[in-house]
Amino acid sequence: MKHLRSIPELGVDGIVRILSLADHMAEVNRRPVPKVPALVGRTVVSLFFEDSTRTRISFETAAKRLSADTMTFSVSTSSVNKGESLRDTVETVSAMGVAAFVVRHKTTGVPWQISDWTDASIINAGDGWHQHPTQALLDCHTIRTEFQRPTSTDCLAGLRIAIVGDVRHSRVARSDIQAFTALGASVVVVAPRTLMPPDIASWPVEWTSDLDSVIGEIDVLYMLRMQRERMSEALVPDLAEYSSRFGLDSARAGRLRDECLVMHPGPMNRGVEMVIDPSELSRSVITRQVANGVAVRMAVLFDVLGDPNSEVGS
Ligand code: NCD
Repeated sequence: MKHLRSIPELGVDGIVRILSLADHMAEVNRRPVPKVPALVGRTVVSLFFEDSTRTRISFETAAKRLSADTMTFSVSTSSVNKGESLRDTVETVSAMGVAAFVVRHKTTGVPWQISDWTDASIINAGDGWHQHPTQALLDCHTIRTEFQRPTSTDCLAGLRIAIVGDVRHSRVARSDIQAFTALGASVVVVAPRTLMPPDIASWPVEWTSDLDSVIGEIDVLYMLRMQRERMSEALVPDLAEYSSRFGLDSARAGRLRDECLVMHPGPMNRGVEMVIDPSELSRSVITRQVANGVAVRMAVLFDVLGDPNSEVGS
């Protein structure tokens, strides 16, 4: 695979391939020295035009554990502020000999656009409301390992997953739904009407605005952040009311099935969607998602840049 730009481009066989590689990478990460020489001499550049803490650090940690060289392009200190275009920026950095760009941008489609301007591989770390494929892959890896399912094309079969909150503006929800349903899970979207995607009827999901009607019947509760920076108008006039209808408080937590996982991609809005402290939830896997993110991004980088004939390394 040359690029990882979206879940549909990856396809179900690609998802399963990455999940099996992620198991090898998790084993590398458990070693006293969690580092292999798989990508020695290759340079991975993070090109982030939007704020990020965990995704950028996760990719950089992953690249370093595979012995790649890493460079960070930070928009706030770059010539973009002198008016340099996206294309000139990409061509300039590319001329330094880059194997892969990890790209985050507020506009849908930028990772495809960039692939026309460079021979390097492109990994999408989030474009607008559109796709966030590595988040979806780490979420699949987390659910699969928590439920101890073997890696296969139907490894999430029989699981019912609720995705709750600001689905309309969420690239995580779009990529997750494609990946979860490809692996056999059923998904229910829970959102207020103003945050429901307008074309929800064409998505392969059930949907409702009543969290209490589904909370006791699900295997995974996936909470989303209210993405106020992507809203052009006040779609949620009253956050306290939102929180009382869609937030996870202790009463709702008490109605979850014992085995139900609680997930969140981060960053969390405490007191809005997450009213209870997640450390009080025995089945919260939010920090495990972050840890799994490194193994999954190692798998993606290896799949895109590694020598297909070599082992992951010892
Ligand atoms: C997500 C993102 O940026 O799309 N965060 C992340 O990658 N960890 C979700 C969000 O910002 O709410």
